[in-house]
Amino acid sequence: MLDKYNRQINYLRLSVTDRCNFRCVYCLPSQGTAWRDHSEILTYEEMLKLIKIFNKAGITKIRLTGGEPLLRKGLVEFVASIKALGVIADISLTTNGSLLAPLAEALKIAGLNRVNISLDTINPVSFNKITTCGCLADTLAGIESALKAGLTPVKLNVVLTDALTERDLDYFTKLINSYPISVRFIEYMPINNKAVPRGMDIAMVKKLLGIKGRKMFKPSTVIQGNGPAKYYHSPKAQGSFGFITPISEHFCGTCNRMRLTADGRLKPCLLSNTEIDIKTPLRNGASDRALTEIFHNAIRDKLEGHLNCWDSGYPWNMSQVGG
Ligand code: 5AD
Ligand code: SF4
Repeated sequence: MLDKYNRQINYLRLSVTDRCNFRCVYCLPSQGTAWRDHSEILTYEEMLKLIKIFNKAGITKIRLTGGEPLLRKGLVEFVASIKALGVIADISLTTNGSLLAPLAEALKIAGLNRVNISLDTINPVSFNKITTCGCLADTLAGIESALKAGLTPVKLNVVLTDALTERDLDYFTKLINSYPISVRFIEYMPINNKAVPRGMDIAMVKKLLGIKGRKMFKPSTVIQGNGPAKYYHSPKAQGSFGFITPISEHFCGTCNRMRLTADGRLKPCLLSNTEIDIKTPLRNGASDRALTEIFHNAIRDKLEGHLNCWDSGYPWNMSQVGG
């Protein structure tokens, strides 16, 4: 379905849990957060029912997010049941990678196409500092297992903070030369007023990677995936670099997405406070037609561009809206 601004909404980001085993400084408060009670979280059956309805309204691609989606039991079976619907062309997963190694192959067999994994630095001390409780070795094992299982292209999400160093950039260059990996640098979005020390900006990263001023990297003409990243390829490399710039150059004009939170709120835009409760009508026995109407209304509510919610009391942590 097209929205008011002629954007085709075909991509659902579905958060399966608000819980996480990390506390990334840009995402969650270090003291932790009050997790939603299990009873407030949509069951897999409820999610599947909504997926079927949303598919009839145009959704053909789904990304599973969290919190950390692999914390939720039964995720492999859930992927298999989405696949079994036979109507979702692309199923992907965003994860911190820490729990991926033992599950990657089963996820692939169940029908998962690919994964995005957060990796802000390869310095184990800085990694632990930024994630508060993460262990770099687990995430690296997760990346390796994703490659081995063929969950490719593997995309790495690198949020720009002061943890990122030139050593990391050298490492990422070697990675993309040798593997089908896209390393994407993401501008930090200061939602919920978190004071996160900034490091290099996008221009500096591009310069250090040799993307600026050199002919080695060419901007990609092919649109990759569902997202807003701009990619650069070098003939030497199997992978690519990508840049996601919600701050310096926002990409609302091509937004194709709808979000559904784990507790059943439709969010037409990540950075707007607008949300539509679909869980209550679902649990009260609303008809498929009524639920379709709610979904259509949510698409109608999509704003032309995002508001700077980081200035105006955005009530959620990133983990509660699925990033
Ligand atoms: N700004 C930018 N990116 C963020 N992520 C989480 N919080 C933020 C933020 N405040 C990214 C993480 C994760 C993805 C879901 O969102 O890198 O990979
Ligand atoms: Fe967890 Fe991802 Fe948020 Fe880090 S960014 S705390 S891994 S949900």
